[in-house]
Amino acid sequence: MRRKLLLGNWKMNKTPSEAKAFASEIKPLAKEAKSHKIDIGVCVPAVDLEGVKKILKKSMIVGAENVHYLPSGAYTGEVSIPMLKDLGINVSLVGHSERREYDNETSEKCNLKILALLENDMIPVYCCGESLETYEAGKTKAFVKEQIVTGLKDVKKEDASKIVIAYEPIWSIGTGKNASKEIAEDVCKYIRKIIRELYDTKTANRVRILYGGSVKPNNIKDYLSEKDVDGALVGGASLKADSFQELLRNIE
Ligand code: 13P
Repeated sequence: MRRKLLLGNWKMNKTPSEAKAFASEIKPLAKEAKSHKIDIGVCVPAVDLEGVKKILKKSMIVGAENVHYLPSGAYTGEVSIPMLKDLGINVSLVGHSERREYDNETSEKCNLKILALLENDMIPVYCCGESLETYEAGKTKAFVKEQIVTGLKDVKKEDASKIVIAYEPIWSIGTGKNASKEIAEDVCKYIRKIIRELYDTKTANRVRILYGGSVKPNNIKDYLSEKDVDGALVGGASLKADSFQELLRNIE
């Protein structure tokens, strides 16, 4: 059985001091999540990683929001895999739509990141999802398929099941217009079908697929009740300790 996963994405929020205070506040949730067999964690800005990791240690997932695919070099402003590993970080988001939109992150580039993370025993949380225009044109599945096939190119079967995929329709991110649970299930199920075609049923049944986009304490249960939705990637509602706790309690 796939374990449920609740993952916060702080985006560009929380200074290192705020991040440490918040990590101390949410730390008790780790035990609660464990007793309900739910994986829980936060993906935080690079400068917050060290402080947050020192507080949460192994109790919760502490992930990066982005990483470079090369181990070192003349890439001003970038963070490498060895830098993350040195802090004990072994998860990173890849290809969030905000990075695709504002930082020219292509699926080809995401593929290099995914391959580099897997090679270093790290877990990529690969984000995909379509714009409103694509959604309204009825081209969601073709669009998402291209993102998955390109992003997972050359990923070996034994590594594929380690990847977490997050389906986040862009039109639902930060807008309060969350996709219905039926839409989320339909696309997550389709993503699982693509994985099955690329690999096999066993791999497809192992890969965890999250929904993200205006997930709130009052709607998270609906998504998690769907067969192919294994968890949620949450922005806004993960930034306050009380709503992060509510998100967890509502899926327990
Ligand atoms: P919101 O939950 O704020 O809509 O953000 C979703 C998201 O982008 C998570 O990665």
